[in-house]
Amino acid sequence: MAQEVRGVIAPGKDEPVRIETIVVPDPGPGEAVVRIQACGVCHTDLHYKQGGISDDYPFLLGHEAAGVVESVGDDVTDVAPGDFVILNWRAVCGTCRACLRGRPWYCFDTHNAKQKMTLASTGQELSPALGIGAFAEKTLVAAGQCTKVDPEVAPEVAGLLGCGVMAGIGAAINTGNVGRGDSVAVIGCGGVGDAAIAGSRLAGAAKIIAVDIDDRKLETARSMGATHTVNSRTSDPVEAIRGLTGGFGADVVIEAVGRPETYQQAFYARDLAGTVVLVGVPTPEMKLELPLLDVFGRGGSLKSSWYGDCLPSRDFPMLIDLHQQGRLDLGAFVTETIRLDEVEKAFERMHKGDVLRSVVVL
Ligand code: APR
Ligand code: ZN
Ligand code: ZN
Repeated sequence: MAQEVRGVIAPGKDEPVRIETIVVPDPGPGEAVVRIQACGVCHTDLHYKQGGISDDYPFLLGHEAAGVVESVGDDVTDVAPGDFVILNWRAVCGTCRACLRGRPWYCFDTHNAKQKMTLASTGQELSPALGIGAFAEKTLVAAGQCTKVDPEVAPEVAGLLGCGVMAGIGAAINTGNVGRGDSVAVIGCGGVGDAAIAGSRLAGAAKIIAVDIDDRKLETARSMGATHTVNSRTSDPVEAIRGLTGGFGADVVIEAVGRPETYQQAFYARDLAGTVVLVGVPTPEMKLELPLLDVFGRGGSLKSSWYGDCLPSRDFPMLIDLHQQGRLDLGAFVTETIRLDEVEKAFERMHKGDVLRSVVVL
């Protein structure tokens, strides 16, 4: 039986979000209905609301979530009702070239739930943010979007791995391959950059240089594991990073802003043969111009990190374990917990840079 629950809808371009009754169908083959327990507020939700991602209104927002599987459709074997799960953006096929080569984050045939959730009042189909739509009491996803983790962990902490925190940690440990003793610089210390700092500490980096234009962010970065901080409003970040690394540059530089000028800084702040990782998401009109001789002369590699190049089935349980053991403080990313009807307010606070993460708890 389809059920009616409450969810946070972005009704149209730049219109305030509001709570509506939504209809969640029974899970079809390969699908699951998940009772959401917590869902973080991410920039991407705001971008959906503002029309920066698509015009497919109305959106059901929310995509950084954890909850309990309520029911599954036919052919679902990996998860069962009662499992505590973290949701990811897309189920991968397991058989395409990218999957077979061990890079499922580039899967050619990812999918979300095939059935649609709808607005109870009008019957209109909803577009769930990143194929999830978890600012809701329940949501419908593809079963492959659910990863089982230790049910002892607090949902508001677990859900964060579904997006920003995983993107940052993965940029360091998966894409950047940060290793023991490395020097790392992270440019931009919001939730994603701070997670890259935490990931670098986890990987055993000896020196972690945090760069931001806001001193408040640098203070938090220190608590996440930064050993040095640079305010790039008041000093040249490239000079500062080189100065802190014996004049050379960092082994790995992670850009977590998503702008050409900060990517350029990252490029010049890398050591000879160093690695630059772009995890900040640029907009379509942004361009980067670099002297080819500087690409050639300094060597190394320029990489982008897609969802932290993560493998949810491998990385989510591993990071939850590390959190449970006290070796990774995922709780430090939760600035506040809020109710479902406070998402609009949370957007404002996020916009002002007041929070790392507001997390809706249901
Ligand atoms: N130099 C250094 N830091 C900067 C600059 C700059 N020129 N401009 C902004 N920042 C800092 C901000 O002060 C803030 O601390 O970058 C940080 C960005 O953080 P958030 O806005 O909280 O964004 P976050 O959620 O961390 O995401 C960062 O990664 O995944 C992507 O889409 C995401 O592009 C976004 C980026
Ligand atoms: Zn695939
Ligand atoms: Zn997100």
